[in-house]
Amino acid sequence: MTFPRLTPNPVPWYNCGGPSTSSGRRETTGVRTRQLKIALGSDHAGYRLKEEVAALLRSDGYDFRDFGAFSDEPTDYPDIGRQVAEAVAGGEFDRGILVCGTGVGMSIVANKVRGIRAAVCSHEYTARISRRHNDANVLALGGRTLGPELAKEIVRVWLTNVFDPQERHVRRVGKIEPPATCGG
Ligand code: RB5
Repeated sequence: MTFPRLTPNPVPWYNCGGPSTSSGRRETTGVRTRQLKIALGSDHAGYRLKEEVAALLRSDGYDFRDFGAFSDEPTDYPDIGRQVAEAVAGGEFDRGILVCGTGVGMSIVANKVRGIRAAVCSHEYTARISRRHNDANVLALGGRTLGPELAKEIVRVWLTNVFDPQERHVRRVGKIEPPATCGG
C-alpha cells in the first residue's frame, strides 16, 4: 500500500494531540510544537478577504508568504492557485490558503497538483474535519460567500487542527492519490 505524503504533522503520530494553543499559531502534538509555514493567495474576487486573512496570520504570528493578488484588478485564479499549490506540494510550505469568489475554482486548480488535498470550507465543522479526517493541506475560501469574521474563524480552526492518525483515516487518505505511474 502506498502511503500519502501527509502534511508534516510533528512526529510521532500516535501522540498527536488535537487543537493546540489558544493563540492558534502552532500545530501541537503533545510532544512538541512546530511553526507552520503558510502560502497565501487569491484572485481579484478573493483579494479583500485574502487581505483579512493576511492580517490574521500576521497578528497570530504565523510565518507566511503572500503570492498575490495585490489588488482587485482582474486576475485568473488558476495562475495564483497553481503557484500556491506547487509551493505546498514541493515542501517549501506546510499549508496553503487560497481565496477566490467561491473557493471552488481555487480548489479545483489546487487539487490538480499531485500531493495536494484542497478543501473548500464554509463553516468550522468542515474546516476541522478536513484536517482531522482528510489531512487537507490547502484551504479554499470564498471571498464572495463568506463574511470576514466567519472566514477568520474557519482559518483558525483549520490551522490548529491536526490529522487524526487512526488507521482508517491513514488508509483512506492513502487511497486518494493515483499511482505515480498514471502520468502523475
Ligand atoms: C471571478 O469572477 C470568479 O469566477 C472566481 O473568483 C472564482 O469564484 C472561480 O471559482
